Amino acid sequence: MVPLRKPFLRMFKTVMAYSLYIVPSQESTVVEGPGSVTKLPGLIGSQGIRKPLVITDPMLMKLRLLKSLFKAFDAAGMAYAVYDGVQPNPTIENIEEAYALYLKEGCDALVGFGGGSSMDTAKVVAGRVVKPKLTADRLGGYFKIMLPFPRRLPRIFAVPTTAGTGAETTSAAVVTDARKNVKYTVNDFLIHPHFIVLDPELTLGLPPFFTAITAMDALSHATEGYIGTAHCRFSDRYSEEAVKMLFGNIDRVYKKGKDIEARGRMLTASYYAGVVLNRALTGYVHPFAHKIGGLYHLPHGRVIGAVMPLVFEYYGASVQRRLARLADVIGVSGAGMDEAGRAAAFIGAVRGLNRSYGIDETIPELREEDFTEIAAAIHRECIPYPVPKIMDDGDIFAILRRLKGE
Ligand SMILES: [Fe+2]
Repeated sequence: MVPLRKPFLRMFKTVMAYSLYIVPSQESTVVEGPGSVTKLPGLIGSQGIRKPLVITDPMLMKLRLLKSLFKAFDAAGMAYAVYDGVQPNPTIENIEEAYALYLKEGCDALVGFGGGSSMDTAKVVAGRVVKPKLTADRLGGYFKIMLPFPRRLPRIFAVPTTAGTGAETTSAAVVTDARKNVKYTVNDFLIHPHFIVLDPELTLGLPPFFTAITAMDALSHATEGYIGTAHCRFSDRYSEEAVKMLFGNIDRVYKKGKDIEARGRMLTASYYAGVVLNRALTGYVHPFAHKIGGLYHLPHGRVIGAVMPLVFEYYGASVQRRLARLADVIGVSGAGMDEAGRAAAFIGAVRGLNRSYGIDETIPELREEDFTEIAAAIHRECIPYPVPKIMDDGDIFAILRRLKGE
């Protein structure tokens, strides 16, 4: 690493962290509770919208998860169109196809229904509507939609069907450029969803392992923001509440998927964690997960679960006080434990979740010859993130070796 790189990076990250204080607040209207998805037509109608485009994926269509929504649309006499081609990592083609359908059907609002992929597609399509000359591949980066002057996007309604991504409340969307085999992010305040529907009934059918790995994703959003340098009193409240709810309910939903009360709490916790992600950003766990997940086609939350304890251990003393506080929040602090002991207890509790729910803490797919490429991607993605401690290649390689099981 270039000798002055770390001080410059630290300076840049500090400026970024302080600039978050002047970010305009992004309020969404939240509707929650079992069956709340049926309130969507009324909500949409109240905004003077005539015909929304529902964006979802083929699996959810096959599982007929949208049945109650379609029934509610029909009962309300509301016209709608459906784009159901979203892939697990939405591609530029997905966005362009959905945008073309939006125009063809004469739609005037977007409903992202599904995991992060469907919600992210809806957000970028909304951006495309006000930037008709910029195809999705040209919207990557920061503020390409709001600059040179902000415009009113079609209203975006987000309906998550997993408790994990937090995409319903973030101002970013991840898009895959399938031709180049890379992912990029569209970051813009204007794509923050305007309405959020948190209906736990939609998450009842999630299989146990998928429930666990999506919860690990939410846990990482709540904790990475908490231990990063951009946290504030506002984000701390959301972090602590999310961490408490996730630890308090994960076992119930893992063992009894139909527990609607616990499913509801997990959905709320995931939303709170998304608020943290949006305000206090993330740390090294996500860049590791993005690159490793993309390279070896592994689910995001599965990699997050493996990476999180190792990155937290690497941060060491720099995050001890914060992790110790989280240990208090979830009640794993023993009497007489010092800060280091309590921080270790929190990391131990995260490892305990991995163990209990079958999340492998190694990633056997990792290949030594990919380490340099992985490290470069992690450095690149992490430039604006308010991390508590800056890694060099050696630090990243050491974590990759442990992940490999060495
Ligand atoms: Fe995530």
